[in-house]
Amino acid sequence: MKLFLDSANLKEIEDCLKKGVIQGITTNPSILSKEPKTDFIEHIKKITQLCETYKQEVPLSIEVLKEKPSDMIEEALEYSKKIKYSNLNIKIPLVSFEELEVIKNLTEKGVKVNCTCLFNEAQCVIAALAGAKYVSLFRGRMKDTGIEANQVISNTRKILDKTELNTEIIIGSIRGPKEIIESFLADADIVTASSKDIKKMAFHLKSVESNNQFLNDFKQWLK
Ligand code: E4P
Repeated sequence: MKLFLDSANLKEIEDCLKKGVIQGITTNPSILSKEPKTDFIEHIKKITQLCETYKQEVPLSIEVLKEKPSDMIEEALEYSKKIKYSNLNIKIPLVSFEELEVIKNLTEKGVKVNCTCLFNEAQCVIAALAGAKYVSLFRGRMKDTGIEANQVISNTRKILDKTELNTEIIIGSIRGPKEIIESFLADADIVTASSKDIKKMAFHLKSVESNNQFLNDFKQWLK
């Protein structure tokens, strides 16, 4: 069980690294677009520097922006060369049969691929066969289209466990702490969640109430 942070925000990343609760970081172009406009590679380097500072050189996923397979390969290799982070993962969206060649090619060159934008077992299996180190299923977006996410996660787990492949299942597009826990119970290897949802995991109203009661009782006793 591993928890990743789905964010490109330096403050959120630092905050989670300080608490020691994340074992990886994922980003995507939409997430990046929420940050102040800057050079993409320079921003990613700032994230890797934070990981180095906190001695947590965790897997970091960044996504290609190009759409043609040959361009995606070139782009991924450029990132690997310029960012120089040993735990860099390149996200390749699976939108057709063509990206599988990108996954195979990059994997053979030693680039770790996180195949993303996945919605069912078949996509995960084919991406794993092409060599993806991670397959990223989008839980919240599945739910939006009426797909039973827990079933898809546990089916994918069952199938991948029957292979020699070491592909790990990441569940993204999380909407709330309950979905994080349900994804783990469905046997996902990794859940990637927003900082907001990770923070919520530490909170329960009854914990606050209980603690307040203990402190108040003690104060009364001192009077
Ligand atoms: C996962 O890898 C994606 O970055 C992400 O979780 C997508 O989530 P969204 O549906 O909230 O955009």
